[in-house]
Order: sequence, then C-alpha cells, then structure tokens
Amino acid sequence: MRRVLILGATSPIARALAREFANHGARLYLAARDGAEVERIAEDIRVRAGVEAHAGTFDATGFESHREFTANAARTLDGLDGVVVAFGTLGDEERAHTDASAALATVSQNFTGAVSLLTVVAERLEAERRGFIIVLASVAGDRGRARNYVYGSAKGALALFAQGLRARLANAGVRVLTVKLGTVDTRMTWGREGVLFTISPEAAAAAIFEAWKRGREVVYVPRVWRPIMLAMKMIPERWFKRVKF
Ligand SMILES: NC(=O)c1ccc[n+]([C@@H]2O[C@H](COP(=O)([O-])OP(=O)(O)OC[C@H]3O[C@@H](n4cnc5c(N)ncnc54)[C@H](OP(=O)(O)O)[C@@H]3O)[C@@H](O)[C@H]2O)c1
Repeated sequence: MRRVLILGATSPIARALAREFANHGARLYLAARDGAEVERIAEDIRVRAGVEAHAGTFDATGFESHREFTANAARTLDGLDGVVVAFGTLGDEERAHTDASAALATVSQNFTGAVSLLTVVAERLEAERRGFIIVLASVAGDRGRARNYVYGSAKGALALFAQGLRARLANAGVRVLTVKLGTVDTRMTWGREGVLFTISPEAAAAAIFEAWKRGREVVYVPRVWRPIMLAMKMIPERWFKRVKF
C-alpha cells in the first residue's frame, strides 16, 4: 500500500488526485496553509474511500519547518512512498511587475518553497532507494510572456529543478513526474479572460494519475498543449515580444 504526502491539498486538482490515490488504496497525508479546510477534505476522503487520510498544515515559504514537517508526515504514515507538490499561487502579477517583494513572494510560493521541500524529500526517498515525486508545473513556464513572466519563470525554474532531480534520483529508483498544466478550472483561473482549452480538476487529476501509473516523466495536461508549446517556443524572440498576451 502506498503512503502519499500531498502538499497544496486544498487545490481542487490536488483534491481530485488525492481521491484517485485513495480509490487505489493509498494512505494519505494532506497539507496546505488552511488546516481546517484540509481536515474537511481528509474527512471526505476517509468517508468516501475508506482509507487513512491525515491532515496537516504546511507553508511553502516556512523553509525552516520543512524538515520537521516531512519527518512528522512520514512518522504519521509510517513511511513515505510518494510526494505530490501541488502548491502554488498566481500572485498579483501586475503588482509583481513593479514591486520586488510581490515578485519574490510569487517566486517563493511557486519555486523556492518547492526547492526547500523537495530537497528534504529527495534525501529521504534516495536513502530508501524507491518512491516517487509528482510536481505540478505549468505551460506558463515554457516561455516568458509579458503578462505572466514572474509566475511563468517560477514554474519554468520548478520544471528545470524537477528535471535535474529526476536525473539525480534515477539510479536510486525514485521517479519524478513533471506535469505541465494548461488551464484548469480552479479559483486560480476563475474569471480570467482569454483562457483556452480549460479542463476540469477531475479531468486533470485523471490524466496525472494515468501518467504516473504509466511511469511517464514529463506530461502536458491536456495533451493539446504539447504541440502548442512546441510551436510557441519556435517563434523568434523579435516577433514573440510584440505579442502582448
Ligand atoms: N489552474 C490552472 O489553470 C493551473 C495551470 C497551471 C499550473 N497550475 C498549478 O497547479 C497547482 C494547483 O493550482 P490550482 O489551480 O488548483 O490553484 P488553487 O486552488 O489556488 O490551489 C493552490 C494550492 O496551493 C496552496 N498554497 C498556496 N500558497 C501556499 C503556501 N505558501 N504554502 C502552502 N500551500 C500553499 C493552496 O492552499 P492554501 O491556500 O490553503 O495554503 C492550495 O492548496 C499550482 O501549483 C498551480 O500553479 C494550475
């Protein structure tokens, strides 16, 4: 039976993914900043799937707490087989363009926090020579755009970090799956204009779970984003910078 730690568990995508793991018999430790909401989600999973689901609080930017937090989650689950990094925020992108502290907040909630947590997690899984990590990155990380380059750069750096981690952990039998999400219908994207190919959190979670089962390493969800981003990356910079999107 798998013991899975899910961070950013109040995300509808993470919540649907937690249900996928629970329906396959996994035991879960769910965490995010809003501990009361995490407890409600854990209770729902316990009732519906009849599996062990624990709730905790976790702040991605509380770097110094990450080691103790991970040790406590592993103690509670009696070991750790996998970790899902689903936390992240769009932040106030417009403000981040002129306010360095807003830009740094976006970077630490999406990237630096994940670096801190994953470094602790990787050490543990590497020592046990098995396990998996799933990282929710974004198509926004594939190319810097005028409208969301602060968030995009944090997600792009996260994907690069996950790529390096995958290479480092390959010989230790630890798998790393990078998920490049397109638009998913959650509070993060609610009310945003000009979004394409929006899918539900449940559809996103089903695709992520399937990719994990198949042992994939990098996936675009939904798949349509793969050719789109391939084409986007080929547009010469001198043209790309003129498109304001
Ligand atoms: N929705 C999309 O279209 C889309 C596209 C590409 C990538 N993604 C990525 O998918 C993941 C899930 O996003 P979502 O759309 O489901 O958004 P969401 O509903 O806003 O969920 C974000 C999650 O991150 C947690 N979180 C935020 N800041 C945190 C912090 N400092 N420490 C710990 N947890 C924190 C939130 O919980 P608390 O507030 O309780 O802490 C929540 O669980 C994110 O990494 C996002 O970047 C989403």
